[in-house]
Amino acid sequence: MPRTLDPELRRALAARIRYYNEMGIYDFYRRPLSVRANIPESISADQPEIAISTSQPELGDEMSPRKATAAAVPVEENIFEASALKPEQSVSDPVKALKIIREDLGDCTRCVLHKQGRKQIVFGVGNPRAELMFVGEGPGADEDAQGEPFVGRAGQLLNNMIKAMGISREQVYIANIVKCRPPGNRTPEREECETCSPFLMRQIAVVKPKVVVALGAVAAKTLLAMSASMMQLRGRFYEFRPTGVRGNDPNWDGCKLAVTYHPAFLLRDPRQKGEAWKDLQMVMKELGMRAPKANT
Ligand code: URA
Repeated sequence: MPRTLDPELRRALAARIRYYNEMGIYDFYRRPLSVRANIPESISADQPEIAISTSQPELGDEMSPRKATAAAVPVEENIFEASALKPEQSVSDPVKALKIIREDLGDCTRCVLHKQGRKQIVFGVGNPRAELMFVGEGPGADEDAQGEPFVGRAGQLLNNMIKAMGISREQVYIANIVKCRPPGNRTPEREECETCSPFLMRQIAVVKPKVVVALGAVAAKTLLAMSASMMQLRGRFYEFRPTGVRGNDPNWDGCKLAVTYHPAFLLRDPRQKGEAWKDLQMVMKELGMRAPKANT
């Protein structure tokens, strides 16, 4: 298999993508390399799966194992990514840029969640210039009712975690991998995550945080395009660049990403709060923040 595209074909593809962009089409969905090349996934996997299965989803592998599809696509072939300049990228005001993304999302029917009882799309909330961004899994009943992420019990705990860092909810940006409530608060399917997350990637590219904190395994695995347990994912920073968005800011070439436990998991197992606090302290150090004194 040649690892590079014929330059003629590459030019033709780029012209076709520009044509689609001009018609207002920006999102292209890519099948895994193994599907395109007709190679069984079991043979073509670039990386060994390191997921473990446990009855505690937060500690194990909540989603069906996924391949790091972005990593599996040779750079030379990554023409879709290279060409996808999004409409909001011509706008410097992040408020306006986020509005453009929201409008592009529209009354979304791209995945099945739109017909499974969602009341509204939960886009994201907070400081459009935030240095710190939290990404959860998907809206629950309270979020679906109010149209804002993390406003239920898990949200109260997240607010407390943010406060413990010495900042307020209004100073950060908060969003989810999927923007519609999965029925019965089930874990979003991989396909739902992959359909919805390009919009989150665009939000991240607009906000340009210094650090993204992935809350829980679904957020971590979707953002990092890798499958691993929480134990393996936590405790370090990853270099993160939103996929599918061409950078247009010389001052922002991605950010750090840290993984911690989802607040809903911490509500179920409060003994892990100390571990989560360690993760947040690592983030605070990176951002040069100091926790307030206990009695202030
Ligand atoms: N859980 C999430 O992952 N996101 C929310 O917005 C609320 C609960």
